[in-house]
Amino acid sequence: MLSGLTRAGALFGLLYPTFSLIALAKEPVRAGHGMVVAQEPIAAETGLRVLQQGGNAVDAAVAVGFALSVTHPVAGNLGGGGFMLIRLANGTTTFLDFRECAPAAAARDMYIGPDGNATSDSIYGWRSAGVPGTVAGLALAHQKFGSKPWKNLVAPASNLAAEGFILTEPVAASLRDDKNPLHQDPESQRIFLRNGKPFTAGETLKQPELAATLNRVADGGSDGFYKGETARLLAAAMTAHGGLITESDLGAYKVAERTPLEGNYHDFHIITAPPPSAGGIGLLQMMGMLDGTGYTSDGPDSAKAVHFETEAMRRVYADRSEYLGDPAFYNVPTADLLKPAYLAWRRGTIDPLHATSSEAVAPGLAKTAEARLRTWHESDQTTHFNVVDAQGNAVAVTYTLNNSYGSGITVPKLGFLLNDEMDDFAAKPGSPNMFGLVGADANAIQPGKRPLSSMTPTIITQNGTLFMVVGAPGGSRITTGVAEVIFDVLDFKMNVQDAVDLPRFHQQWKPDFLYLQNGFRPGVAADLTRMGYAIKPTDGVARVEAIVVKGRMLEGGTESRLHGKVAGY
Ligand code: GLY
Repeated sequence: MLSGLTRAGALFGLLYPTFSLIALAKEPVRAGHGMVVAQEPIAAETGLRVLQQGGNAVDAAVAVGFALSVTHPVAGNLGGGGFMLIRLANGTTTFLDFRECAPAAAARDMYIGPDGNATSDSIYGWRSAGVPGTVAGLALAHQKFGSKPWKNLVAPASNLAAEGFILTEPVAASLRDDKNPLHQDPESQRIFLRNGKPFTAGETLKQPELAATLNRVADGGSDGFYKGETARLLAAAMTAHGGLITESDLGAYKVAERTPLEGNYHDFHIITAPPPSAGGIGLLQMMGMLDGTGYTSDGPDSAKAVHFETEAMRRVYADRSEYLGDPAFYNVPTADLLKPAYLAWRRGTIDPLHATSSEAVAPGLAKTAEARLRTWHESDQTTHFNVVDAQGNAVAVTYTLNNSYGSGITVPKLGFLLNDEMDDFAAKPGSPNMFGLVGADANAIQPGKRPLSSMTPTIITQNGTLFMVVGAPGGSRITTGVAEVIFDVLDFKMNVQDAVDLPRFHQQWKPDFLYLQNGFRPGVAADLTRMGYAIKPTDGVARVEAIVVKGRMLEGGTESRLHGKVAGY
């Protein structure tokens, strides 16, 4: 009798007698010294100039982070937070967690309405903001690893804010989009929508208040944001509008320097994001579950590959719902979740021929989970950038306001948007957040706690040498999008540009849908439907960006259908 996997191979072999991959064959951008990949070209070029002037990868990342806060207002930020993963050329690694945290006045049930349900206050308005971490994160990175004067790295951003930059159509269209939350806030309307006369492509957006805030950061470093005039104005505006963040919250904000999560996959070494990211654990769990399944035999865009990767995703997101949260507040069972025996057991529950119902998949370490389901749109918030310098230092940064334009609130006189990261907590344990993610006590709100994240900045080495730097924005789809591109490069040997362009898919346990990006070759969706998947078409799964090192050459990829830039020299 055939084993399950062999039967699967036989079935898929019949469906796809020959290996067939969409003919993408687009060349990556190549450069011999340094490279920056970012979602917005002006910011990418800002980072490139820092590299060309002898700055290292951390210097360039700091400059890109500040530049994006001006040129990419949908996600670039001073008022949000994120993660920076660093691997120095000498092999040293570290992870700077500058994720927002809940203000001291936050409470577990602060978003539960009179009817007992979660309200939208965690998504829109002043109360949705966590204490921002970005400026502290960039400042600590510079203090520990930077080589160029801090002021020189902030200056390009403050100049862009003061003198303005020319809007491209994608940025102008995004600002105009009447679904974005900028329309709900008077200060955001004034700055970004010109009081009802929205910008068109080719016009210049100046942000003088943001320039002044950046100048205080240039002069005072982290204190220029968390103390003094910026802190006073932010706290006063919070008080005036019913928000929770105080000067004391700002003064108390601390970046957490963490040990990255590391693991091996075939002959690659994976360095990735630890909790409060769910991304790194999810990535390593997927690798452990897929290992040995033979899922690659029909190609990366085959029903077989989608099926096995999807079933791994389903189990990853079930575990995430129960066990993951801020490790300072909850004892995250990281080692148990990554035990080979546990992952082998999880792998064994995958039916090679049929989709498993999410109802039949519980968080695996304990057998209890229940969730109420609510579907929500997936927004393209959050942004990611990668930098590699001529010495081989590598930096991967994902930072965010959470939703597109965050809370929608621009702080008067300060010119920056506030995050709505509080929605990444489980506002009501068991009740889905805006990404449809469910959580439990592990991710319940507590003062000072960081909300669980999907951000998955990752660096991969091979034989001790830098091989890949990768990450993405995309809400709950970040982890799966990043994982797919990694598999496409590591397992399917695709070049980095083809890998980021290949249509992707996403499954997050609940709701029990397989989101399939438009562009799969004919027959794949029908095969997956026959296997039992409820498919929802989607126009994208995370905007993955990556750099791969090939010999002495850096190869960079950013999705062709989007507007990012690979800048190298
Ligand atoms: N705010 C998106 C994330 O951190 O997952």
